[in-house]
Amino acid sequence: MSFDVPADAYARFMGRFSEPLAAQFAELAQVRAGQRALDVGCGPGALTARLVERLGTDAVSAVDPSVPFVAAIQSRLPGVDVRAGTAEQLPFPDDTFDVTLAQLVVHFMADPVSGLSEMARVTRPGGLVAACVWDHCGGGGPLAAFYRAAHDLDPDAPDESGLAGTREGQLAELCGAAGLREIEPTSLTVSVRFPTFAAWWGPFTLGVGPAGAYVAQLDQGRREVLRSRCQQLLPPAPFEIAASAWCVRARA
Ligand SMILES: C[S@@+](CC[C@H](N)C(=O)[O-])C[C@H]1O[C@@H](n2cnc3c(N)ncnc32)[C@H](O)[C@@H]1O
Repeated sequence: MSFDVPADAYARFMGRFSEPLAAQFAELAQVRAGQRALDVGCGPGALTARLVERLGTDAVSAVDPSVPFVAAIQSRLPGVDVRAGTAEQLPFPDDTFDVTLAQLVVHFMADPVSGLSEMARVTRPGGLVAACVWDHCGGGGPLAAFYRAAHDLDPDAPDESGLAGTREGQLAELCGAAGLREIEPTSLTVSVRFPTFAAWWGPFTLGVGPAGAYVAQLDQGRREVLRSRCQQLLPPAPFEIAASAWCVRARA
């Protein structure tokens, strides 16, 4: 699995975008003291940490199938109830949470409708279920320049634009199919500054996620050509990358 990687590799590759996104997503979900919350597909804890800030350790649970990420949360946020598991089979009873969130996870679920249905099941009736996924389909995600370069060199290179929830409106459709109510689509954008091109490129070589897996299987020559093509497409450093995520808020 491309998320069976050290937490610090994830932090360098995607955490630089998902940490600022988490602050906005927790605000969008109107997470307030007194609530009990679950972070589904928590990774190394970008959103979990924001939930703990707002609700306290005892009111937050988290779940992820990646063993190194579960261990990373246990060390970053001692005392949080973090479990190994998937969205499609959440290890919690019905109606346990006021707020159940999934940041950048729906597109990696084996069965997104079943994962969202499970999120509804563990949320009390009328509680909030929210999810967000990068705009990989519309080219607004954080990896857009990388995938453009990869396709320039190899039209058959895989990308994430066909994954569930990456197209505008698709998250809302999935939530409807999962039986959620009062579905409100919206979007969030974060901007990340890169002091050098090397700071942007280096983490692509760490094997994280589908993009990292693609780089890892290239031989050194093809990797260097891809690196050069990325550098041609990006502005001279320092530069900023704006990344947008489709979001939904809905009621269980
Ligand atoms: C892009 S990362 C997002 C991590 C974290 N939420 C964040 O915003 O940084 C995707 C996460 O989804 C997890 N994941 C993959 N398949 C999953 C599934 N079926 N159910 C729950 N989580 C899953 C991965 O292990 C990984 O931690």
